[in-house]
Amino acid sequence: MADSDTVIEIRNLHKCYGPLEVLRGVDISARAGDVVSLIGSSGSGKSTLLRCCNLLEDSQQGEVIFKGEPVRWRGEGMSRHPADPKQVLRIRTNLSMVFQQFNLWSHMTILQNVMEAPVTVLGRDRAEVEQSARAYLAKVGIGDKADAYPAQLSGGQQQRAAIARALCMEPEALLFDEPTSALDPELEQEVVRVIKDLATEGRTMLIVTHDMKLAADVSDHVVFLHQGLIEEEGAPDELFGAPKSERLRGFLSATQAA
Ligand SMILES: Nc1ncnc2c1ncn2[C@@H]1O[C@H](COP(=O)(O)OP(=O)(O)OP(=O)(O)O)[C@@H](O)[C@H]1O
Ligand SMILES: [Mg+2]
Repeated sequence: MADSDTVIEIRNLHKCYGPLEVLRGVDISARAGDVVSLIGSSGSGKSTLLRCCNLLEDSQQGEVIFKGEPVRWRGEGMSRHPADPKQVLRIRTNLSMVFQQFNLWSHMTILQNVMEAPVTVLGRDRAEVEQSARAYLAKVGIGDKADAYPAQLSGGQQQRAAIARALCMEPEALLFDEPTSALDPELEQEVVRVIKDLATEGRTMLIVTHDMKLAADVSDHVVFLHQGLIEEEGAPDELFGAPKSERLRGFLSATQAA
């Protein structure tokens, strides 16, 4: 049952792309302060699941519940869509996403990138937003880069700017899709450190990652997806320490060998 502490809950979610059923009945939830990691092979549906959480993707069956409030749908099956654009906007702005490829606007400075959505989407006061944008940039360790353009930053710095941008929305939860996989190992560590700090602070996060060490270190709960279904889930020490399913054992030994 959803309670008021549950930020995001997905029940029995089904998602197709044409004839391809990518999610085949998935349940997942994150209570306030939880860090939930999603792991699994390429194509298992991790990004799709994350995108269904903040309604960037439609789904055909099942429920998406944000803080106890179910998404209202109209239509059924392939013609099912969210019924209320205001509800979609509210949910989406409360579940800020950080992408693998940063997705910063190249023609805007870092500060402008961080300020853009709070000012234009949320209609917040510009001076107030600037103050918090600068504070978030400092928090992720790039306070001195506010006036630089994305192309003048390293990948690790750009990803930290993208995290500051997500934080500046003051969301209920952060959704990360492979936040470190476009980065060289040393730059990856800068970003991992920021994510660990956010976990320590009690931020609610859903993290899709191929970095098993990150998943083991920061998660309260780890979900292993296989072909659109949850094959196994649990606390990180159980899942990584004593995996039960053959598929998870195979996946973990393949990732460790890589
Ligand atoms: N827009 C789309 N149209 C059609 N099929 C898609 C689309 N997006 C994803 N898929 C398919 O859905 C399946 C799941 O994709 P998804 O991106 O969720 O996988 P993933 O687990 O995130 O993989 P990866 O680890 O490679 O990022 C794949 O078979 C993919 O080809
Ligand atoms: Mg993906």
